[in-house]
Amino acid sequence: MPASIPTVAFPHGIAVPALGQGTWNMGEKPPEARREIDSLRAGLDLGMTLIDTAEMYAEGGAEKITGEAIRGRRDKVFLVSKVYPWNASRKGTIEACEASLSRMGTDRIDLYLLHWRGNHPLAETVAAFEALKAAGKIGAWGVSNFDVEDMEELLEVPDGGNVAANQVLYNIARRGIEFDLLPWCQKRNIPVMAYSPIEQGRIVSHPEIIRIAKANQATPAQLALAFVLKHDGVIAIPKTSSAARVAENRDAVSLDISDEDWATLDAAFPPPARKKPLEML
Ligand SMILES: NC(=O)c1ccc[n+]([C@@H]2O[C@H](COP(=O)([O-])OP(=O)(O)OC[C@H]3O[C@@H](n4cnc5c(N)ncnc54)[C@H](OP(=O)(O)O)[C@@H]3O)[C@@H](O)[C@H]2O)c1
Repeated sequence: MPASIPTVAFPHGIAVPALGQGTWNMGEKPPEARREIDSLRAGLDLGMTLIDTAEMYAEGGAEKITGEAIRGRRDKVFLVSKVYPWNASRKGTIEACEASLSRMGTDRIDLYLLHWRGNHPLAETVAAFEALKAAGKIGAWGVSNFDVEDMEELLEVPDGGNVAANQVLYNIARRGIEFDLLPWCQKRNIPVMAYSPIEQGRIVSHPEIIRIAKANQATPAQLALAFVLKHDGVIAIPKTSSAARVAENRDAVSLDISDEDWATLDAAFPPPARKKPLEML
């Protein structure tokens, strides 16, 4: 019996699996659609019921794939999507959300994020998010690629304190947020969604990751995910279009890595000793 996936709770009380599924690069090539839908469904069957998408991915194509994958099982899924910064005006956010809902064939996004900071005032975007929430079109809203300063500014705007999550680049090779942003979010119970948790696949060829994974009868991707998942309040959203890899990634929650192995990995991938500006991919 595989270990169950730990959960992370949002400030509004909803708990989601700490291991979800990403969709970047899905919906780009029609012949791949079947495989992409099947892999997302395989993940749902395995309890990876949080799906992360965005209007940006394949310019709506990934939302269409997501819509297909969740058809008939919407109630079992926690759906996350994102608005482009240049659409994030008071009016544009509402229109973008409605277009996303229509592409996904649903009437509600559970968590709607500002993809990264742009030129529209945060107060406008937040007002639109709150209006969408009041209309029942989104369950909660959050941000992405926000560093500590951006989060602090956000808390100053009306209703800014309703931010439910911050989605940022985080994996064993990109540990900058451990210095300040991660503890800042943990202290306020704002979950961090770790994107590119296996460094877009690159981490699996790192010799130290390979060595320690092997010593634990695990795969490199599983070890990379286990690193992210050991942090409180962090949700990992690996992307794969392979059902076999979904199952492999799902089993990352069963790893039991010793303190000694983590210390070896800390030496190979040192935690930050000083502030580093937030990295983005
Ligand atoms: N908010 C943002 O600005 C932002 C930015 C980047 C990403 N994201 C979100 O975060 C999600 C995850 O990030 P990501 O897609 O950049 O990177 P990732 O999840 O770290 O890595 C995805 C890559 O790794 C490969 N892969 C997956 N599982 C594997 C395994 N077990 N063994 C070997 N390779 C494996 C995938 O290939 P296959 O598909 O061929 O298996 C794909 O090429 C995205 O899909 C997206 O939803 C958000």
